[in-house]
Order: sequence, then structure tokens, then C-alpha cells
Amino acid sequence: MKKIFSLLSAAMMLAACSNNPKQDSKVTVTEPILKEKFKNNFLIGTVLAADQAFGRDSLTINIAKKHFNALTAENCMKPEIIDKEKGKYDFSEGDLVVDFAKKNNMYMIGHVLIWHEQSPKWFWVDEQGNPLKPEVMKQNMKEFITATVEHYKGKVDAWDVVNETFNDDGTLRETPYYKILGEEYLKLAFQYAHEADPDAKLIFNDYNVSKPEKCDAIIKKINELKSQGCQIDYVGMQMHSTMTFPTIEQLETSLKKFEDNGIKVQITEFDLTAIPFPEGNTADITAKADYKDTYDPYRNGLTDSARNALNNRFNDIFECFVRHSANIERVTVWGITDKGSWRQDWPIKGRTDFPTLFYSDGKMKEFLCK
Ligand code: XIL
Repeated sequence: MKKIFSLLSAAMMLAACSNNPKQDSKVTVTEPILKEKFKNNFLIGTVLAADQAFGRDSLTINIAKKHFNALTAENCMKPEIIDKEKGKYDFSEGDLVVDFAKKNNMYMIGHVLIWHEQSPKWFWVDEQGNPLKPEVMKQNMKEFITATVEHYKGKVDAWDVVNETFNDDGTLRETPYYKILGEEYLKLAFQYAHEADPDAKLIFNDYNVSKPEKCDAIIKKINELKSQGCQIDYVGMQMHSTMTFPTIEQLETSLKKFEDNGIKVQITEFDLTAIPFPEGNTADITAKADYKDTYDPYRNGLTDSARNALNNRFNDIFECFVRHSANIERVTVWGITDKGSWRQDWPIKGRTDFPTLFYSDGKMKEFLCK
């Protein structure tokens, strides 16, 4: 009986999703509207890159409008874009994304304030390249956070205030901020963000949050900062995932730990790679590996069994999100369709991957069409 059921569900998984059920064979299943499908569970979010923000890619713009009710700027609200030259703010691209969110009634996330990547060097070193004095670094952080958060006051619902501040073993990452200010920089970042917009929700964001040591360390730090008076509304779990990590058990355990500690969750950057990931489990944007054919097995398309395995894995993860949805405010997928996903070029350039909820032609992944 069980076998018949799994054969049946495999057939369902492989049945095409369609916008127009009348046109297709009887195995075709209608594509749901995602924000309706998950309306009793969580907000369902996506990211806008420059092509969509500037209106150059109508397929993905329409999917974003139709299916998603939360939005993050993929790159254009990062410090290297907003404040490339100290004090010369450029909010123009960010404004386009924020306007798009407003017009389409979407929850808007500001990504990101304090991160050791995609930030200009003046945050950390002086013109001679020497590390900044602590007081200067604090002032820089304060000016940038205040100007940025105030600019988007009332328009951005939640900010990724800090990003990737822990190592996987639960120690604090030796970022330039940590080296110059010690742990205090975390507290200051939340303090400055809260002062600039007391109504904005604030997120403590990181990857591999389901690794037990990292999860425990983040919980300890969030509790400590809260007890010192910081407003921290959510832990942000990036969740750049592989076919094997995190296991459902690891994910479930971490979600339970947050529930037990009264810490609400936002899944901030979910994606799922279907192809080999030579760099181990990481979302470090500097990770790189050389191209090999064996690392790009589906360059001519997914096989049926790979498509099935991928859909099953997506399904297991989403079922876990739904089981814990009482404590999950939002699930954001990092990319609208597969074609635009950063995974196609990271950590190896020019591969074919299937990490988002929509194939490159705009068809929805089958597991959602049940
Ligand atoms: C990625 C973008 O998707 C890429 O386009 C860019 O080249 C590098 O950054 N963690 C984060 C995101 O917090 O900002 C990163 O986004 C992915 C990893």
C-alpha cells in the first residue's frame, strides 16, 4: 500500500504544473498562487535584482507580483551600493525596489546593514589602509545606519541588521568589526538601527543556523543582547541548502530551540542546490571552485529521478516550515526563477542549477502543485 502511495506521489510530483488546466492532460495540476497557499502559515518572499527593479525582465516581475508578498533587494541595498563613497548616499536602486514592494503590497526587508562582505573598505580602514580607531568605526557605523534606516523609515518593515557574524563552530567571526570593536559592535548595530526607526523590526541574520553549535551560540547571544536592552525581533536563517544539509532533523531541532527560547524566526534566503556542492556546507560568497563536467550534471536538463528527488527534498523542507509556522513569520526564496539565481555562478561559474520555486521558463516546481 505504502509502495503504491509513493509511486502515485512520484507521478504527481512529475506531473506538469500549469496555469491553464483545461489545455493539458489529466495529470496536469493547476499552479496555486503561493501567497494564498501559505496565507495561514507565513509570508512568502522573493528577491528583486537590478533587471527586475529596472523593469527589464517581465517574466520574473510578473511572478514576483503574482506569488509573493514579501521582498528583499538582492544586492542594491547593500552598503557597497548605498554608501560606496563615505557619506555620498545613493538610494536610487533601493528606492525602486522599495517602491515596487509598496505598490504590490509586500512586506519589505532591508538587506543589509552590518556585514563584512559587499561593504566599502572605508568602514574598516583609513585612507592609508590602517585599521580605524574604535571611536571612528563606531561613528561610521552610526552615520551609515542612521542615514539608511531613516531614509527608509516607514517603508522598510524589517532590517537585516547584522549578517554572518558567527563561525559554524559557534565562535564569533573575526570580521573587521569584531577585530576593532569586539563583541560590542553587535549591540551598537542594533542600538543605532532601533534609534533610527523605532517601529522597524530587527533581524539577526546568518547562514548554517541549523548547525547545533552555531544555533546555540546565536541563541545565547540574542538572549544576552536582549537582556542588555537591545531590540531583536527575529533570528534570520538564510538557509542556502543542499540535498543533504540541513537534514530535516537538524532543521526541526533548531526551529524547536528558537521556539523554546521565545525567538521568532524568519527564513531569509532559502534556496536548494540540486547539483554537487564541492565547497562543503557554506554560504560564504567568496567560496570558489573550478568547473568540472561532473559538477554540472544537469546542464542538459534534469533527469526524471533527479527532478523527483529535488521535489521531494523541497517538499520535506516546506512541510517542516509549515509544521513550525506558528513561530515562522516569513519564508523568502533567494531568486524568483532558477535562471536568475546566484547559484548558477556560485561557487562555480556557469552551471545549471534548480534552486528556486520556479524553473527558468517560469513553471512552478511540481511539489507546490499538490
Ligand atoms: C548574493 C547575491 O545573490 C549575489 O548576486 C551577489 O553576487 C553576492 O551576494 N548571503 C547573503 C546575500 O546575505 O546577500 C548573498 O547574496 C548570498 C549569501
